[in-house]
Amino acid sequence: MSARSPIVAPSILSADLSRLGAELAIADPALDWVHCDVMDNHFVPNLTFGPIVVEAARKLTTCFLDVHLMMERPWGMIDAFRAAGADGITVHIEACPQTREVLRQIRAAGAKAGLAIKPKTPFAAIAPYLPDLDLLLVMTVEPGFGGQVFMEDQLEKVRAAAAERATKQLDFHIEVDGGIAPGTAAAARAAGADVFVAGNAVFKAKDPKAALAALHADVK
Ligand code: DX5
Ligand code: ZN
Repeated sequence: MSARSPIVAPSILSADLSRLGAELAIADPALDWVHCDVMDNHFVPNLTFGPIVVEAARKLTTCFLDVHLMMERPWGMIDAFRAAGADGITVHIEACPQTREVLRQIRAAGAKAGLAIKPKTPFAAIAPYLPDLDLLLVMTVEPGFGGQVFMEDQLEKVRAAAAERATKQLDFHIEVDGGIAPGTAAAARAAGADVFVAGNAVFKAKDPKAALAALHADVK
């Protein structure tokens, strides 16, 4: 298991955007990140928001803003998301043939650089980039929608990344995203993950603050 302190990252994809300030008030900047899912209806079959919502979130929370770009040609938007207040920007390996160049661009903009991998993409595709990362995002559902069922088999990638991180003494977060709830979060933690994105499990709960606390308890 990673010695890193676990971080929970509520995803605003499942939040009520008409009361985003109240929704984000449950997150503690010392323990939580805020996850922003950007979708372009091309890389994934869904459309969400761009920098203006990230800019609004920036005004409402001091939490680390973890921006997950599920879009083609993300390099054209990196500076705009950084200017909007993104602290971390994650692009998909499947959308970035010039991976190293895009990671460099994210860092040059002043943000933490993340790389995400879809369920059907093999671990070998991202393995060469691990030394260049601040964060590896392992998708545990097909990207595009909240509320899907956790894919346990994806934890193999988490284990492989955690092993590489330990043997090569690398320094990056391992984040899991999709179907994270008490139980699946603990399984991901045991596999070596240290950042846990949760949409429905937090914002669709009767008491989102209690749901967030339950996730923290699950990954302790
Ligand atoms: C899915 C997004 C996730 C989504 C997770 O494509 O990347 O961040 O918000 O939602 P839940 O936790 O409901 O599976
Ligand atoms: Zn996400």
